[in-house]
Amino acid sequence: MSGDVIRLERDVIRLDGVTKTYQAGAPPAVAEVSMNVAAGEVVAVMGPSGSGKSTLLNLIAGLDRPTVGRVTVAGRRIDNLSETALARFRARHVGIIFQFFNLLDDLTVEDNVLLPAQLAGASRRQARVRAGELLARMGIDRYRNEYPARMSGGQRQRVAIARALVNAPELLLADEPTGALDTATGQEIGKLLRQLNRDGQTLVLVTHDRALAERYAARTVQLVDGQLAHSGAEVPA
Ligand SMILES: Nc1ncnc2c1ncn2[C@@H]1O[C@H](COP(=O)(O)OP(=O)(O)OP(=O)(O)O)[C@@H](O)[C@H]1O
Ligand SMILES: [Mg+2]
Repeated sequence: MSGDVIRLERDVIRLDGVTKTYQAGAPPAVAEVSMNVAAGEVVAVMGPSGSGKSTLLNLIAGLDRPTVGRVTVAGRRIDNLSETALARFRARHVGIIFQFFNLLDDLTVEDNVLLPAQLAGASRRQARVRAGELLARMGIDRYRNEYPARMSGGQRQRVAIARALVNAPELLLADEPTGALDTATGQEIGKLLRQLNRDGQTLVLVTHDRALAERYAARTVQLVDGQLAHSGAEVPA
């Protein structure tokens, strides 16, 4: 299959005419979206509630499949993969963080971070080293053996970021990563994400927060009723 051919790609994401309709007859949640995100870019996706931001992110993440169109991530076409192949693809190539962290409360911080490495079949010893480095980078290595339920929102989001990065994915996706945090904590998470991007991490950030988008993303795209309304370059502050 041509999908096995390894190509050198500058674009980490390519969407070609992507439409997602959840129910026949209903208007599409995402309509004919085409866009590229280059390696090392940070792009903010903005738009009103219900405009299709999470749907778009889920299509890029391979958590969902488009009704029409092509989704290519990290050089692989993913819209036509089987569920099993998609799950494997996600574990290796995409990290995702969410508004409400989605951590497992009965696992320690370290075991939460190790989970995707386990799913990807990484050696536990190497994964523990990597997890330790990431937790240190997030400033929470002393909470390694704690349980997430005992931590603050900002600390939990740091755990979620470490978990998302444990397999060194080409792409980090964030759906309202500061939506459940107070302003100051949200800014800390924004700074961490920007630092990761400065170190080369490609990042797509869904947010309602214009200040966050303007401060931390070099490019903002607007969704309105599932369609790309505006794509502009902005100079980060
Ligand atoms: N699983 C689903 N089944 C059916 N319809 C859905 C599903 N998920 C989303 N939708 C619909 O698709 C549209 C886009 O939803 P989506 O969650 O992508 O918007 P959003 O921009 O992320 O909104 P918000 O800012 O509130 O998170 C909405 O009309 C929503 O009702
Ligand atoms: Mg959403």
